[in-house]
Amino acid sequence: MNLNEEIIKLKKEKNAIILAHYYQRPEIQDIADAVGDSYYLSKMARECSENLIVFCGVRFMAESAKILSPEKIVLLPAADAGCPMADMAAAEEVKILKEKHPHAKVVCYINSSAEVKSLSDVCCTSSNALKIINSIEEKEIIFLPDKNLGEHIAEQIPDKEFILWDGFCITHKKVKAEALEKARSLHKDILIAAHPECEKPVRAAADFIGSTGEIINFVSTSSNSKFLIVTEEGVLHEIKRKNPEKKFYLPGGGMSCINMKKTYLKDVYNSLLNMENKIEINEEIRKKAYVSLANMHELGR
Ligand code: 13P
Ligand code: SF4
Repeated sequence: MNLNEEIIKLKKEKNAIILAHYYQRPEIQDIADAVGDSYYLSKMARECSENLIVFCGVRFMAESAKILSPEKIVLLPAADAGCPMADMAAAEEVKILKEKHPHAKVVCYINSSAEVKSLSDVCCTSSNALKIINSIEEKEIIFLPDKNLGEHIAEQIPDKEFILWDGFCITHKKVKAEALEKARSLHKDILIAAHPECEKPVRAAADFIGSTGEIINFVSTSSNSKFLIVTEEGVLHEIKRKNPEKKFYLPGGGMSCINMKKTYLKDVYNSLLNMENKIEINEEIRKKAYVSLANMHELGR
């Protein structure tokens, strides 16, 4: 049996589900039971009947699954797959900011640590942030850790006051607006879809801004035939699978997330075989973090 077959056999024996983010390597997406953006994967992890989840993504995603479903075993095949943006918000600093703004509601991007989630009122992803923040009555919003997503939402809700954290995604920061201008000059009829983790000049130069899932939906339902995809290159796997007749371009500059690429098939196999790399979260922190994630699912419905 090859590695794929071994994984499928083990998965059946152990009644496990394999979840993968769109930024994962093609062979990981191909072996997964469900591939999606952060919100979809969080929903899947919460609603699936399997008690064993192999989460092919980065740590905050697997932690979010465990926070919402503590009774399930959640494995992260690449134990050191973190998210540098999530690491940019330290819990102690969040506490200080909250003290400075006692009337503000704290909205944290799902790309955050369990402890930061435990200090937040509600979580969000890039696909539901606007809906969630719109449903909050309070005027003052602390948004963390992604300044770019926060700015993008703030531009659409001018009557709220946003206190933005200074975090960013090192992958999306690599792209500059010039790359988008160049693509437009080379291909007159190109449409540009960008992730909100991109900086403002890049967002301003795009035709569409959305989560990975929303970008895939945008290009799949558009009648246009050429697109520049301004997010991590892993999404091209699903995009090309769904749209074999269309043409897709990347802005260049190495839009690859090293952490998302840490998971290989052998890691999936080993974690399933040996039940390695289980996610564990301090119960006190988990209970508080649960509230912010459950609020996201309630408000994001
Ligand atoms: P989405 O899948 O929600 O668009 O998030 C992108 C991301 O950066 C995940 O780390
Ligand atoms: Fe974190 Fe950016 Fe990688 Fe997503 S793409 S996991 S935000 S570093």
